[in-house]
Amino acid sequence: MANSAGSHALWSAQAHMPSVLQRRVEIVGGDGAYVTTSTGERLLDATAGLWHANVGHGREELAQAAYDQISRLETYHVFGRFANDAALRLADRVAGYAPFADARVIFGSGGSDAVDTACKLARRHWQLEGKPSKKVILSREYAYHGLHAFGTSIAGLEPNREGYGSDSLVPETARIDSVDIGKVAMTIDRLGASNIAAILAEPVIGTGGVIPPPPGYLEGLQRLAAENEILLIADEVITGFGRTGAMFACERFGLRPDMLLMAKGITSGYAPLGGILVAPRIWERFFSGQQAPVFRHGLTYSGHAMACAVAEANLDILSREDLVSRAAGLEGVLDQALGQARSHDLVQEVRQLGFLAGVELAAAVDADAVADIALERGVILRILRGNTVQISPPFVIDEAEIATIVAALLDSAEEAVAHQRAS
Ligand SMILES: Cc1ncc(COP(=O)(O)O)c(C=O)c1O
Repeated sequence: MANSAGSHALWSAQAHMPSVLQRRVEIVGGDGAYVTTSTGERLLDATAGLWHANVGHGREELAQAAYDQISRLETYHVFGRFANDAALRLADRVAGYAPFADARVIFGSGGSDAVDTACKLARRHWQLEGKPSKKVILSREYAYHGLHAFGTSIAGLEPNREGYGSDSLVPETARIDSVDIGKVAMTIDRLGASNIAAILAEPVIGTGGVIPPPPGYLEGLQRLAAENEILLIADEVITGFGRTGAMFACERFGLRPDMLLMAKGITSGYAPLGGILVAPRIWERFFSGQQAPVFRHGLTYSGHAMACAVAEANLDILSREDLVSRAAGLEGVLDQALGQARSHDLVQEVRQLGFLAGVELAAAVDADAVADIALERGVILRILRGNTVQISPPFVIDEAEIATIVAALLDSAEEAVAHQRAS
């Protein structure tokens, strides 16, 4: 299925380029849970791209929203006293979804921007509180928080941090245990709470292999943050906007973070947009009085009008088609479909929460080969850390298609092992 012959200029992300050039898959169209390639194959998108296409591909309504906005006004910046109407409207709307009262919203272009913004704001908060030593950002082992300087520095996936000449591009960062809250408490003690600004955590670790939190873990993080005057930041770039069957995973776990990060599902990928929701504890001092400090942060495209208009139309679709409830219902369907995988010889473990799952293949199976074979069978799978296959389809997928994904995964694993044995 290699195509895009003749195109050599694009340097792909996270890619071994010599191999990619021989086997690039060029996607040119999409509809619902499917995408099409430049050579005409129609592929079932089991991952919703990079966990982004929640409402599915090819929504005319979102193209129209982009067209309408650009026809009227492409964008206007939100620096100083200026703003644009689309950004103002969207901020009010997403503030209403926050898992805490009276949120304020800072927009950026995607998830990595949201991570940078939140980490800077956490550090700024403690400087203004008169606790200047509180600078360290804690993140979980196996976490993925994008690849800007802060995201790279706090990555829990070692390969993403290595090779830049120092352990952390931003100096004050450290990892906490991903599953054992007792060990987290020990790390906080060792580093000293007076040095720690924030804990940044994905409610369900995504790229690190789909790791749902053990019972009590997230609640434990919330307790430790409160006891030690540490800010809690929920990275809901994957889990936000319905993926766990609630608007935000924080609702599902009863979490009230100080900041919440969003991207991907806010537009379902129809425009690059991310942002953070900020709780009053942080924003209040910036919003009142002549002496109010300025948060010196922002991008030309913070609150880009076209992206915000698309986000609003995307949220209209989520609500009109009741897609968050649909995702909640599909959790059970996926769970059932994965039953066969749980008892399969070639599967080490199945992990699922909401409408996302990771199927960890047995160590003997070459997961990359499985994804390649599945692609030939018409299903896009993606390999995460730990020989784990990502399943996170668009919310518009149906039961039969979910069964197709699981069957393609297991059949491809069997075929991969047969090839391994034969060679
Ligand atoms: C949990 C999480 N945070 C942050 C990011 C970074 O987002 P982006 O790639 O939009 O910069 C990602 C991307 O996959 C993510 O999964």
